[in-house]
Amino acid sequence: MKVLSVFGTRPEAIKMCPLIKEMDKHEEIQNVVCLTGQHKEMLQQVIDIFGIEVAYNLNIMRPQQTLTTITTSVLERLESVLMQEKPDIVLVHGDTSTSFAAALAAFYQQIPVGHVEAGLRTYDKYSPFPEEMNRSLTGKIAELHFAPTENNRKNLANENIHKNVFVTGNTVIDAFHTTVKDGYVYKDKGIRDIDFSGKRCILMTAHRRENLGEPLRNICRAVRQIVEKFSDVEVVYPVHMNPAVRNTAEEILKNIDRVHLVDPLDVEDMHNLMARSFLVMTDSGGLQEEAPACGVPVLVLRTETERPEAVAAGTVKVVGVEEQNIFENASVLLTDVAEYEKMAKAINPYGDGHASKRIAEAILEWKVVG
Ligand code: UD1
Ligand code: UDP
Repeated sequence: MKVLSVFGTRPEAIKMCPLIKEMDKHEEIQNVVCLTGQHKEMLQQVIDIFGIEVAYNLNIMRPQQTLTTITTSVLERLESVLMQEKPDIVLVHGDTSTSFAAALAAFYQQIPVGHVEAGLRTYDKYSPFPEEMNRSLTGKIAELHFAPTENNRKNLANENIHKNVFVTGNTVIDAFHTTVKDGYVYKDKGIRDIDFSGKRCILMTAHRRENLGEPLRNICRAVRQIVEKFSDVEVVYPVHMNPAVRNTAEEILKNIDRVHLVDPLDVEDMHNLMARSFLVMTDSGGLQEEAPACGVPVLVLRTETERPEAVAAGTVKVVGVEEQNIFENASVLLTDVAEYEKMAKAINPYGDGHASKRIAEAILEWKVVG
């Protein structure tokens, strides 16, 4: 059975590589990997660490690319790969423009699509933008749906998607189990050089399109307030390569004491730093899944989340994008031990580290049943 996996951004790669490695264990599966190259350096970092074999790279990334150019480049360049490979199934992941365009390209060739990380929803078309629509449309096209949680399965059921839905856990936890190690030594010199002794580390990331501009400025200003008030806090902010993110981060946070703006960390450094942090502040999806697994509280720098499971469990709180609200929520966790302890509990709503195994088995079973 030939499985063509198509992905193109950092988070897709982190979440697809464990599955590709798992499928490699099955003789019945012939794995072919096609990168769209929606990301470049940030994608290559992940591929290098997991060491997976790449058959195609469509190399679509352009500086400040638009949603239209991503979508059309994937559609155009994937066509010949699909025609040449004629896979039995195309696997896509999540909610990026790569995911949607690759699913659409497969649909045009009448090739079944398997959607990994299916069923996440905010039901707000414009938030997150364009991810909510990307994942809904991909769900419409897909034949197989790998839902991380029961809640995700219910979302699909509400849209009348009942067939071939598998609740598997999230493969990000599979990845996390392979990267976090005792006695880990950071590869990044900037991180190695930070003296964390007697300090509390806040790990932050922010990159979402809907946060670009004023919301991201508010976030950065809140971070500035936090380090001014708490002298034992070191903030590490691995800055996304998007110039629209970099410019704002540097404009407000460059040369601020105890704020470390660093280049994107490779996934091993990132996961190990996260596991040793006091607090995570982020608008990323993946971090909302990973941090709860290691008992690190998360403040979500967004107005909504498609990942309500950890919010319900009390380890994640959505705090919006207003400066004062972010500052106050972080201040509570930095001063009130009881409030901190309430949030700092390790939970695993997103899986037990065996999601890839379940997905690979479901794909094989589907092939047998036809
Ligand atoms: C994309 C996804 C988003 C996902 C995020 C993960 C879409 C529309 N957005 O958003 O869902 O959460 O990836 O990070 O699919 N760049 C580089 N090198 C890189 C990567 C990016 O220089 O390795 C720069 C380029 O100038 C590029 C810009 O960042 O044009 C934006 O990248 P893009 O993939 O369009 O958007 P993201 O914000 O990364
Ligand atoms: N990540 C990383 N290095 C970084 C920042 C993030 O390896 O400098 C990892 C992070 O641990 C998570 C994933 O990248 O696994 C999240 O990707 P991103 O924030 O780009 O996208 P999102 O999850 O929001 O789609």
